Amino acid sequence: MKVLVSDSLSPQGMEILQGAKGIEVEVKTGLSPEQLQTIIGEYHGLVVRSATTVTADSIEAAHNLKLIGRAGVGVDNIDVEAATKKGIVVMNTPGGNSMAAAEHTIALILAIARNIPQAVASMREKRWEKKRFMGMEVFGKTLGVVGLGNIGIIVAERGLGLKMKIIAHDPYISPDLATQKGIELVPLDELFTRSDIITIHVPKTKETENLIDTKAISKMKDGVMLINCARGGIVDEEALAEACRSGKVRAAAVDVFAQEPTPSNNPLLEVENIACTPHLGASTSEAQENVAIAIAQQMVAYLTEGTIRNAVNVPSVDAQVLTTLGPYLNLGQKMGGFFAQTCPFPLKNLIIEYQGEVTKYNVAPISSTILVGILSSYMEGELVNEVNAPFIAKERGINVRESKITEEADFTSLITLRAKAAGESHTVAGTLFGKKEPRLVVVNEYLIEAVPEGNILFVENLDKPGVIGNIGKTLAEKNINIGNMHCGRDEMAGKSVNIFNLDTIPSADIMEKLAHLPNVNSVRLIQL
Ligand code: NAD
Ligand code: MLT
Repeated sequence: MKVLVSDSLSPQGMEILQGAKGIEVEVKTGLSPEQLQTIIGEYHGLVVRSATTVTADSIEAAHNLKLIGRAGVGVDNIDVEAATKKGIVVMNTPGGNSMAAAEHTIALILAIARNIPQAVASMREKRWEKKRFMGMEVFGKTLGVVGLGNIGIIVAERGLGLKMKIIAHDPYISPDLATQKGIELVPLDELFTRSDIITIHVPKTKETENLIDTKAISKMKDGVMLINCARGGIVDEEALAEACRSGKVRAAAVDVFAQEPTPSNNPLLEVENIACTPHLGASTSEAQENVAIAIAQQMVAYLTEGTIRNAVNVPSVDAQVLTTLGPYLNLGQKMGGFFAQTCPFPLKNLIIEYQGEVTKYNVAPISSTILVGILSSYMEGELVNEVNAPFIAKERGINVRESKITEEADFTSLITLRAKAAGESHTVAGTLFGKKEPRLVVVNEYLIEAVPEGNILFVENLDKPGVIGNIGKTLAEKNINIGNMHCGRDEMAGKSVNIFNLDTIPSADIMEKLAHLPNVNSVRLIQL
């Protein structure tokens, strides 16, 4: 496996990558998106920080790429949607640099409250302007934290330590968590109107782009202070520059910019009461060591064992969970394959039901492998994996509904797939025997006990004497051995299904002959 490190990574992370068996590491920094696109095809893994931009074009050209690892939090320099579509895992290292970014935020709050950047610059020019730099205490002031995740919460806690009143806006966290920490959760507009200092700690998303624009600033207190250590583009740079010039905003601090490195004509660089730092939030040796070690370990774990940690586009499955879920993942993929090859198309609404012991686990990875099994049955040549399967299913108009059933089943665990297609209902259920061995136990109205493996001959027939004998004879004539055979019958209707595990694949001629045997309704070859 070849891994490209395209931004500088701390030596501790490099050591882990270089020491991993079967992984060859190359370092090429300073690549433009076009240069990356030219060379990415030969790599299986890519490690970036924030300087590399991974575009949809690079991802298109990344024929061998399995994983993009971001040493840091923000993944806005990676086209995650394109990666997901291509089945590439994208992971980051949440938490590794949170302390650094939070401390930088606090440093900037205190710095701009006391005019430190301007005072330092004035002293350097050998001036003594004591009266000019009258500051403001943060004690007793209201700090509004937008986004109460890893960094926001540390900033809030430090703010409490500085005896500030903390209010926060984050629609995605539980109000109890905030209350326990002594933080009042408020709507965004209320945060704007009540805060003396506002600090931003949300990811850059469609929802947060230009969250702080002229309109938002107009709702804020006169003389508010504003800090953005999250991402460029969340605060409208022109609007902030203008508000600082007019005095509406007393002072601002900005660590992140819409374009990085910042072009020299960026309006924020011109205004005296704005302190800018060149994306220094995570620039501590501790944070760089943390994120480099974390991403290197995560990359090695995925490339060598398939365990997924901190992925942003696929559910995480660590080594321990993989051991427990492994047999279910195998069962799910086989069931998906069997389902797709026996179900009438087009498949529109798929219901995946989980019952019994399996409901104790996070079943999302199992659902993904079921979809892999279904989609790879008819998408030959295209890579379908657990990363892109939910995406491809959606794109193909397959609605997937997942449910956990609390009632006890006849089996320790039972997974049932149901769909209605071409006016017919189709059901396949499976379980694990002895905790590991996959078995199909229901196909439509038939109870069976079949091994979903290899080449399967699936026969629907009338429940009459001689059918199985004729099938066995036809196969034997062509020297095709039956490894296993399972029968399920519907006594009321006098019909049955027979599932044969064959050692070799019957030719089209034999399939034709089987289909025309007396009392045989249909014959299908299923390959799992
Ligand atoms: P996180 O995912 O732990 O927290 C983000 C929080 O924002 C979450 O709690 C989420 O619920 C909340 N959120 C999402 N959308 C929201 C919205 N519309 N309104 C309010 N809240 C919303 O992320 P984090 O590690 O705390 O990072 C926060 C930001 O800081 C990110 O943008 C990240 O890229 C950036 N960051 C910058 C630096 C730096 O060097 N300056 C370093 C690390 C992280
Ligand atoms: C992050 O998202 O982790 C930070 O912005 C720091 C960095 O860019 O590495």
